[in-house]
Amino acid sequence: MNPVTRGCLPPLGLYIHVPWCSSKCFYCDFFSVATKDPIPQDQLVDALLDQLRTQRHLLTERPLGSIFVGGGTPNRLAPAAMARLLDGIAGLVALEKHCEITMEANPGGQKAWRAYREAGINRLSMGVQSLHDPLLQAIGREHSRADVLCSFNAAQAAGFASINIDLMHGLPHQTVQQALLDVEQVIVLGTGHLSCYALTIEPGTAFGRNPPPCGDDDTIAAMAEGIANLLARHGFAHYEISAFARPGLACRHNLNYWTFGDYLGLGPSAHSKLSRLDAKGGLAVWRGRLPASISPYLNGRLQPRWHQLDDSTLLVEFLLNALRLRTGFDMGLFEERTGLPAMLLEEGLEHNRQRGLLVREGQQIRATARGWSMLNDTLLAFVPDTVAHA
Ligand SMILES: C[S@@+](CC[C@H](N)C(=O)[O-])C[C@H]1O[C@@H](n2cnc3c(N)ncnc32)[C@H](O)[C@@H]1O
Ligand code: SF4
Repeated sequence: MNPVTRGCLPPLGLYIHVPWCSSKCFYCDFFSVATKDPIPQDQLVDALLDQLRTQRHLLTERPLGSIFVGGGTPNRLAPAAMARLLDGIAGLVALEKHCEITMEANPGGQKAWRAYREAGINRLSMGVQSLHDPLLQAIGREHSRADVLCSFNAAQAAGFASINIDLMHGLPHQTVQQALLDVEQVIVLGTGHLSCYALTIEPGTAFGRNPPPCGDDDTIAAMAEGIANLLARHGFAHYEISAFARPGLACRHNLNYWTFGDYLGLGPSAHSKLSRLDAKGGLAVWRGRLPASISPYLNGRLQPRWHQLDDSTLLVEFLLNALRLRTGFDMGLFEERTGLPAMLLEEGLEHNRQRGLLVREGQQIRATARGWSMLNDTLLAFVPDTVAHA
């Protein structure tokens, strides 16, 4: 443990995993079980609240700055179950006054948007992926373009001022023009936040078993560049590799991940990262993970597995998150969140500066456009020798 940090714990978020979907999209390797049957939502809410009750001492009385209900498909939970969950959380842990509470939602069907707002949700994240019906079918989505338009307008009418839209590019046979058209239409729809992901083919998914014909690296790069230029022209800040926001609408919960804040994960497969201070103000960072299995979780038989991060893992994990941000990070934040001295960064920093991948302005470090597009490569200069040599 390092003496650099003195008595300062990071801000805190809460992630909640709802582990069901009505079908499995061809590209998705997030943990969820596909079923169209009714789900045991009351049992899940009980289990989530039990887990929070038994782990809240780990939060060291910090208030929650954000809650993110993700999945899976969180709007498989009815508004009444969501209300019971959020009320239960507020009864166990203090919430900051303007706590951001996001729910991921799949478009389509009749959605009780107003009831979700009354339950306490104040931000939505809609998994749209594309507005081109043949592409939606090609990736195994159940919704259509019409569903998106209807759901988005209804959610706005219900008073949601902050709605993110997830889009994917590099889809099977997708052209650059189609990818840009999706973004243009989403801008017209009136979203204030977009997350734009290049399709990755994951092992264990339908696409992993049977890879579809997707664009080559140059086509994907042209899509990413076109999307970023288009959104910049419309006043969106490209504040993280995949995230774009109008002023004031950046996602607080994700910003906490990218600035290496703390979070507790509730639900099957959820991850946690929590910091602890010893009596002298030295910092230790722990990671926890719940197994990806539903029944034992519902029956209260799953406990998270915790392990403390060693120095080199800590250093790389900090950089992996913080360099995703357009503005990068301050050396002081590195010391505060890792408990490690900033001098451990010098060697890797200089190496990357010479390769044109990182820039340093005073205490601020950020990736160049090239460093951003090859972040994994940039990080290699920091492992594992940086720590060993320091
Ligand atoms: C947790 S997932 C899905 C949440 C929600 N069930 C939905 O489908 O909208 C969040 C987002 O990750 C993105 N995503 C998931 N798998 C991906 C993959 N293999 N490649 C690129 N993006 C992916 C999708 O845009 C998705 O909306
Ligand atoms: S992308 Fe969303 S809806 Fe599709 S399987 Fe994954 S979590 Fe479920």
